[in-house]
Amino acid sequence: MGFNLPVDRLSQQQTPYYYYNMELLNATLDAVRTEANEYGFKVHYAIKANANDRVLGAIKNAGFGADCVSGNEVKKALETGFNSDSVVFAGVGKADWEINLGLENDIACFNVESIPELEIINELAEKKGKIAKVALRINPNVNANTHHYITTGLEENKFGINQWDLENVIEVLAQLKNVELEGIHFHIGSQITDLLSFKDLCLRVNELQKWFISHHIFPKVVNVGGGLGIDYEQPDENAIPDFKSFFRVFDEFLELKPGQELHFELGRSMVGQCGTLISRVLYIKNGVNTKFAIIDAGMSDLIRPALYQAYHKIENLSSTQATEKYDVVGPICESSDCFGKAVDLPKTDRGDIIAIRSTGAYGEIMANRYNLRELPSAYYSDEI
Ligand code: LLP
Repeated sequence: MGFNLPVDRLSQQQTPYYYYNMELLNATLDAVRTEANEYGFKVHYAIKANANDRVLGAIKNAGFGADCVSGNEVKKALETGFNSDSVVFAGVGKADWEINLGLENDIACFNVESIPELEIINELAEKKGKIAKVALRINPNVNANTHHYITTGLEENKFGINQWDLENVIEVLAQLKNVELEGIHFHIGSQITDLLSFKDLCLRVNELQKWFISHHIFPKVVNVGGGLGIDYEQPDENAIPDFKSFFRVFDEFLELKPGQELHFELGRSMVGQCGTLISRVLYIKNGVNTKFAIIDAGMSDLIRPALYQAYHKIENLSSTQATEKYDVVGPICESSDCFGKAVDLPKTDRGDIIAIRSTGAYGEIMANRYNLRELPSAYYSDEI
C-alpha cells in the first residue's frame, strides 16, 4: 500500500511536488485510532508535522484532537473544524496574542514551559475574566537516543520545567487564581525507534506522579507527547508503524491513577509514510569520483537531509536498467543541498522521475522559498 501510482500518471504533473497516498493515510489513522481506543488513550495530532489541508482534514474527520505550537496552528486547527476542547497549545515562547487567541477560543489546555509563562497566562486570563487550563511541561531528563537536533527531554534542552524547579512552580500555582492545573506533559524527542526510551519515560512519570500526590496535587491528564519513529529504510515493508506495541508500553509501564486520562501528541508516525516528494532529473553530470543526478527538487522543498543528515529512500521510477551509483543533489546554491550520496539507482537519465520516500512528516510544512523558488505543490492519490 506504500506507493501505488504508475509513473506515467505521476510524470504528467509539474515537478517537484508532494504526492500523498490518501488510502495509506486513512489506513494509518484507522490503526492509530483502533490501538489507542483499546486502552482509552486520547491522541492529539501534532500539526507541526504536516498542515496540508487535505491531510489535516482527514485527521480531523478521523476524530483526533490537535496539538498546536503557534497561534497560527491554533487558528488552522479551528478553521479545519477541530473542536476547541480538543485543541492543546504547547511551545516555549508563546506570544501574548497567541495566548489571547487560545483564551478567546477556550482551548482545552496550555502546555506551560516556565514560571514566567504561567504568570503571563494568569494575567491575560484575568483580564478576560477566564480560567486557563494548564498542563506543566516537565523535562523528564530521559534520553530518546535520536538525533541531537530532535532530542527535547534532556536537562540541557530548552524545553519544559526542570524537576528541581517543580517545588517553586507549585508554590506559584497556588497563588494564581486564573489558571487551573489540568495535567502534566512530557515529550522526549522525535523519530524514536527504541521503545525502551518510552518505557524509561513511563518509569520517570510514575516517580513524578508520586511526587505530585505527596504534594496533594492530582493531575487529571498525563500527556506523554509524541516521538514514535517510522521506518525510513523500508517504507513499503513497514508502511504503518507498530502502534500496537507503542501503546502497549504505556499500558504496561505507566501507572495511571483512577480517573486519570492518558494523552499522546503523535505527528510523524501518523503522516510520515503517506507522503512522497516527486521530482524530475534535470541533468546527469560527471564528478571526480562520482556521478551527480541533479534533480529539480531541492533543500527548499525538503530540508531534512540538509538539516538533520536524515536518510530518505530514493527511487528512480522511470528506469529499469542496471544499477549505478549517484549523488542525488538539488539545484540550490549550497553544498548541503544533497538528498543522498552514492545512492544505488537504475541507470538514470534526464527526465526520469525520482521519488523521495517517507516525506509526509516535516516535508511540505518545512518547505521554504530560499533562492526565491516556488513552494512545492501537492497532489493526492484519489485525484491523479
Ligand atoms: N509534542 C511536542 C511537544 C513536540 O515538540 C513534537 C515534535 C511532537 C509532539 C510530535 O513529535 P513526533 O510524533 O512527530 O515525533 N523537524 C524534525 C522533527 C521535529 C519534532 C519537533 N517536535 C524532523 O524533521 O525530524
